Amino acid sequence: MNPSGGFDDVTSLTPLHMIDILRKKRDGAALNTREIEFVVAGAASGGLPLEQLAAWLMAAWIRGLTLDETRALTLAMRDSGEKFSPARLGKTAVDKHSSGGVGDKTSFLVAPLAAACGVVVPMISGRALGHTGGTLDKLESIPGYRTALSLPEFEEVLGKCGCSIVGQTPTLVPADRALYALRDRTGTVENPGLICASILSKKLAAGLDALVLDVKTGSGAFLREEKDSAFLAALMVATAEAAGTRTAALLTDMGQPLGCAAGNWIELVEAVELLRGARPAEGPESIADLRQLSLILAGWMIHLGGQADTPESGCERAETALMNGSALRIFLAMVQAQGGDASVFDEPERFHKPGATETVEAWESGFIAEMDTTALGWAVQRTGAGRERSGEVVDPHAGILFHARRGAHVERGQPLGTLYATSAALLEEPKEILRQAIHFSKTPPHAVPLVSRIFTRENAQEYLGNAVR
Ligand code: URA
Repeated sequence: MNPSGGFDDVTSLTPLHMIDILRKKRDGAALNTREIEFVVAGAASGGLPLEQLAAWLMAAWIRGLTLDETRALTLAMRDSGEKFSPARLGKTAVDKHSSGGVGDKTSFLVAPLAAACGVVVPMISGRALGHTGGTLDKLESIPGYRTALSLPEFEEVLGKCGCSIVGQTPTLVPADRALYALRDRTGTVENPGLICASILSKKLAAGLDALVLDVKTGSGAFLREEKDSAFLAALMVATAEAAGTRTAALLTDMGQPLGCAAGNWIELVEAVELLRGARPAEGPESIADLRQLSLILAGWMIHLGGQADTPESGCERAETALMNGSALRIFLAMVQAQGGDASVFDEPERFHKPGATETVEAWESGFIAEMDTTALGWAVQRTGAGRERSGEVVDPHAGILFHARRGAHVERGQPLGTLYATSAALLEEPKEILRQAIHFSKTPPHAVPLVSRIFTRENAQEYLGNAVR
């Protein structure tokens, strides 16, 4: 009998009971691999009741997961369903995944950019999570676009286009599909072990040769503090490398939304505008950040995929693919191959039909000193772009278009953000959040680097060894 009154796992023949596992985690003990595999199998099959899974997530969130528990959880989730093998495609398989942000639409850029430069990108993504938007929800705003493909269909799109963006299904990483939706509804997102297992289970199930992680830091990140986001980055690099995938993680700024658009359809429009070759000088400064980050991430993908000697030369190749239109062609071909109506991008403004629109103006003059980007993310979700309950349909047209960047000087009355909501009633809360989340100052704030740190196999393990948690 252990101190919590449950039975220890004496032999592998001892039956496991979820209630014992729950009490053990609740009391702060580390679970062994068999216990973690039990939880994951129950999540994947639907065999464990949701209340027990939710309780387990909360216990794991509060108590934390050890490095061994994180590794066991990642591998068990990876193995919870079918796995994809890109070997038959005859190209190096590389992907990028973000730890979650507001207005983060780089996937729509980096997937076709890297594919245009000779690697294949089998991308398994997620839906809106907490205050952050979901790649799948955004893609599903394209009429007809299918995010749930069978593995043969996934392979066919990859063979034809070089990239494919799909979601977890009942057979592909089903454990993440179940736990992801539950974390979104139970306030159990912001934990490094749970984030690591969620992200890497999808990426490792896709059979990748290499992976680039965009780990957000700042007010809109799940882990806002630099030391916490750096820990997550090092944890994911070490875990993915131990599982045999060459990995690099970039710590990038999420102290303000990325780009101008945050929502579903409006984010796709912004990404396609860049794929059409919009240069920073032609667009608002915010698009310059999005463009630059997408090229840097794609540069790393191309480099780790063996198509460029350095990340910098990968970045140059990506820029060529952006400017010569090849990445745009690949993106539109992918949309069509997955059943989407790519013609909606011909006149994107005609397709955009929000239920209600309102612009919030600056209530004072000054520099935009700070943006509480998590709050802004919740504002976006509550326009109708996110869901209140698992499985709810989101509004493709809802979201916020931001008109000013951190550091910009604005005059009173100048537009700060245009809100698109499902109905006029859904404008009120986001408007109020926006007013609370943006802070002005008389002097310009310090500049924040777009990429502050990079982790690879060379420094990740050492960082983890020194990190006191
Ligand atoms: N992206 C994921 O897939 N999972 C997380 O937990 C966070 C970001």
